[in-house]
Amino acid sequence: MAGETAPQRDPHPDESVGPLERGFAVLRALAAAPGGRLRPSELTKGTGLARSTVDRVAATLAELGYVRAEGDGRDLVLAPAAAQPGSAYLRGCGLPRLLAPAAEELSARLEESVSIAVPDRDSVRFILQIQRRRALSVSFRAGDALPVERCAPGAIFARAWSEADFAAWRARLDQDPDYVDYPALPTHRPEKESVASFRQRIARAAKAGYAEDDQLIEKGLIALAVPVHDAAGNVACALSVVSHTSRQSVGSLRATMLPALLDAARAMSERLAEAAVPQDAASDEAEAGAVAADPTAAAKEQLGPEYLQSLARGLSVLSAFGDAGPRGLTLSEAAAATGLPRATARRSLLTSVRQGYVAADGSRFRILPRVLELGYARLGRLTLGQLAQPHLEQVVRTVHESASMAVLDGDDVRYVARAAAGRIMSVDIMIGTRFPAFATSMGRVLLTGLSPAERARFLATARISPLTRHTVTDRSELLSVLEGVAADGYALVDQELEEGLRSMAVPVRDPSGATVAAVNVSMHAARTSAAEARATVLPVLQAAARAISADLALLSGPAAAG
Ligand code: PHB
Repeated sequence: MAGETAPQRDPHPDESVGPLERGFAVLRALAAAPGGRLRPSELTKGTGLARSTVDRVAATLAELGYVRAEGDGRDLVLAPAAAQPGSAYLRGCGLPRLLAPAAEELSARLEESVSIAVPDRDSVRFILQIQRRRALSVSFRAGDALPVERCAPGAIFARAWSEADFAAWRARLDQDPDYVDYPALPTHRPEKESVASFRQRIARAAKAGYAEDDQLIEKGLIALAVPVHDAAGNVACALSVVSHTSRQSVGSLRATMLPALLDAARAMSERLAEAAVPQDAASDEAEAGAVAADPTAAAKEQLGPEYLQSLARGLSVLSAFGDAGPRGLTLSEAAAATGLPRATARRSLLTSVRQGYVAADGSRFRILPRVLELGYARLGRLTLGQLAQPHLEQVVRTVHESASMAVLDGDDVRYVARAAAGRIMSVDIMIGTRFPAFATSMGRVLLTGLSPAERARFLATARISPLTRHTVTDRSELLSVLEGVAADGYALVDQELEEGLRSMAVPVRDPSGATVAAVNVSMHAARTSAAEARATVLPVLQAAARAISADLALLSGPAAAG
């Protein structure tokens, strides 16, 4: 809150963009729903919109990749592009990218989880989580929000509050006593804190320079937070270390970790000061370089009158903040970056301001952390397998053979997703199934993703024994097979795991280019020749791997992208 995030009054409320507001409402409802999934009838109830409106909004969001229909079209599910507004905030503000290295270092040094959070009105929103040993407690992820009174960073942020901010917070306590609006919060929580004791904690934190969380969220979970300042000396974010009462008390946490936490926060503040753009370095009305073409035009052609162009345009304006840097965009820059007329960009910006997603400071607009609620936080809970599932199903629809995803687990591959073709396969594979990596196409792809030292270790120590009469078991021959896979970019394994089974796999890469998983298609050897597989299956598999990598890039955040 701190004044700047309060919704701004727009002198022309009639200029608001209805379809954009309704798009936000649908995204919020989906993000708040279990599994990010609702039926259209539930959406009409949840948003108060008419069914025909929900259908048009959903069709437009689906065209943009923000939602997807599942279960024969009966369910609407949040899809990876819905992470874009949140991604744009995280990239634009630059904090995860600038502060992740120091946070990683601190977490390794203290052997505890470390997080960075920013103020978001009367919430605390996490923008970076370095997890360590969190099996005992709930885990929060980048994008999740906690009520300000229930965590250590809150007492730091609320120091800047006005009385109006406190009044808004008290109104929220009354309106949502059970924390329905905080899906990341566990359901069994300690007693509600009184207004007076929160005020006391704020004063204590201001005096001490750090704040404590002694099981405010959950029994056992304890934390310490310290402020990180920006170049102007304002609190930019809070750095927390999180532990558990099975290992530490709040007192021992303070005694053993506060000095390192304060040191890291000081180094982070310096990093932010170094990186700051001097206020006069860029003139306020400087035009962004090239003028982009309106990216929503192609989608309009696809959907015709069902397409809500102003919704698509409003979302493209939010995405444009990703390349803007912490100072945000002027109206001219927003128009140039999106290829939209100024008046259109202006209406979109003002609508987003009114909804609390953008702040207007003089001639500049800044995207706010609240956009993380539009999908980023919910999508961050997807596993790699869940992310891959719709793409595997697409592969099955195209090639009519089963498709799977696996990761390396010791010397085995372990299946994390699978889409079965209608035909009954001779091998019965489920999520969790393991096979020896050396004899499978996904295993070979994953082994080529290892460092040379790790690969040499595998070849020297893995159990390698024949599974069929075709299995390659000679270790030096296996090495040259793996070199071939690395050169080709795919693996084709012919009846080495099971007679009659031919399988082809390609790698799935994260934004840094590292192989994180493999996807494959398994075929009856009698039905598909190796040459046919190369001609027909390989391009489909490669397209699926690219699509999964693109989803992963949207969800893994700017710190991971480097
Ligand atoms: C967290 O990073 O999970 C965290 C941080 C501070 C708290 C509680 C949880 O007070």
